[in-house]
Amino acid sequence: MARKTPTVATQRNYSVLDVQSAKRAALAWLEQAQLQKAVGFGLPEVDDRYHVWRVPLLNKSNHERIGEVVIDARTSLISENKSTAPAVLEARLLGRNGTAEKKYSPRNGSYSLSALRNTIALGDSEEILQELPAGSVDLVFTSPPYYNARPEYTDYVTYEEYLLKLRKIIQNVHRVLAEGRFFVMNISPVLVRRANRNEASQRIAVPFDVHRLFVEEGYDFIDDIIWVKPEGAGWATGRGRRFAADRNALQYKPVPVTEYILVYRKHTDKLIDWNIRAHPKPECVKSSRIGDGYEHTNIWRIKPAHDKRHPAIFPLELAEKVIAYYSFEGDVVLDPFAGIGTVGKAATKLKRRFVLIEQDSNYVDIIRTEAKTWLGENAAQVFTINCAPIQVQDILL
Ligand SMILES: C[S@@+](CC[C@H](N)C(=O)[O-])C[C@H]1O[C@@H](n2cnc3c(N)ncnc32)[C@H](O)[C@@H]1O
Repeated sequence: MARKTPTVATQRNYSVLDVQSAKRAALAWLEQAQLQKAVGFGLPEVDDRYHVWRVPLLNKSNHERIGEVVIDARTSLISENKSTAPAVLEARLLGRNGTAEKKYSPRNGSYSLSALRNTIALGDSEEILQELPAGSVDLVFTSPPYYNARPEYTDYVTYEEYLLKLRKIIQNVHRVLAEGRFFVMNISPVLVRRANRNEASQRIAVPFDVHRLFVEEGYDFIDDIIWVKPEGAGWATGRGRRFAADRNALQYKPVPVTEYILVYRKHTDKLIDWNIRAHPKPECVKSSRIGDGYEHTNIWRIKPAHDKRHPAIFPLELAEKVIAYYSFEGDVVLDPFAGIGTVGKAATKLKRRFVLIEQDSNYVDIIRTEAKTWLGENAAQVFTINCAPIQVQDILL
C-alpha cells in the first residue's frame, strides 16, 4: 500500500493542519462580525512562504469572491490586517465597491482617546488580550518570562514552543495597540546552565529571535537601547570566573552587565508627527514634553532592582523613562507580563492609565494591594478581570 505523504502543514508543524480547521477558524471570525449567514467559503489554501492559510470568502447568493480571511498557520489566529475587513465585506455584499481603506479598527484613520480604565487582569495574556478593544492601548512596555533560566520558569518544553507563545502575545498586542504607537520590550540572552561538568553551558540569543517575530507580526524596528548595570551586577551568573582564574585564550567570556530595551512601532504609513499633531488633547502633548536631563544616547545606566516578592522585576526608573519617552499623559500603558506591577506604579506616577495582565494569582494580589498606595481612594475604580475588585476601606487617609 502506498504511504501517504505528509502534508505541508504537517511537515511544518503548523497548528492549523487541514482545510476543515482553517474553515472553522474563519467561521468563528465571520460569526464575530455576524456575517456567517451571507458569506461562504471557497477552498482554503496553505501558503507556507508566509506561514498562513488563505480562506476565500464568497457571497453566498451569487458565489462571487468578495475577499479572504488570512489565518496564521502557526498560531491559528486571524491576521486582521491581512484579511478583508468586515466593513468592506458588508459593502461588497450590498453591491457597493468597498475599499480597503476602511480598516476594521475603531481607532484607525481617526484619532480618538482610549476609553479603558486602569485595569488589573488575572490570566494568560494570550486570552485576556482578546477581550480588550482594538486600538485601545497607547504603549506597551514589558519584560517577558525567561526561557528556562530558573526552575520557576520551566513552562516551555522547547525553545520553539517558548517563541511561539511570545509570537501569539506580540500578535494579539498588535490588534489592541493604537496606530503608530510603540511596543517596548526589555529582553536579554539567557544562560542555560550546563547539566554536568562535561557539558558546555549554552547562551541563547533570545532578542535576535524575538526581533524576527516583531517584524513578521507587523511592527517596524525603531531602536535598541542598552540598559547597563553597574559593574559587579553580572558576577552572580558565574560567567567569566573560569577565564578570570586561568586566562587561557579562547576561554574568554565577558560578564554580562547589559540588557536590551528593544523599541518597535506598530506599522503605519503615517509619520510620528501625525501621532503628535492629530492628538485630540494638545494640552496633554504639551504637558508630556520631556525636560532637560533626558537620556541622550542609547546607553542607559540604571541600577537593577530586587524585590523578595518576585525574582525578576525591572527597576521603576527604567519603566518611568520608557513611559515618559513613548507616551503622553492620559495614555493607556499595557504590560502583558506584569509581575508585581512596576509598570502600573510608574504609569500612575506619570499620570497615565495602566492595563496589567499577570497569570500568577500571588503577583496579582500584590498588584491589587500596591494599587492602593499608587492610587489611594481611586483604587476602588480599578477595573478587575478574573479577580475581586479592590477594597479601599482599610486605607488610612
Ligand atoms: C519577567 S516577569 C515581569 C516582572 C515585571 N516587569 C515587574 O517588574 O514586576 C514576567 C512575568 O510574566 C508572567 N507571565 C508568564 N507568562 C504569562 C502569560 N502567558 N500571561 C500573563 N503573565 C505571564 C510571570 O508570572 C512573571 O510574573
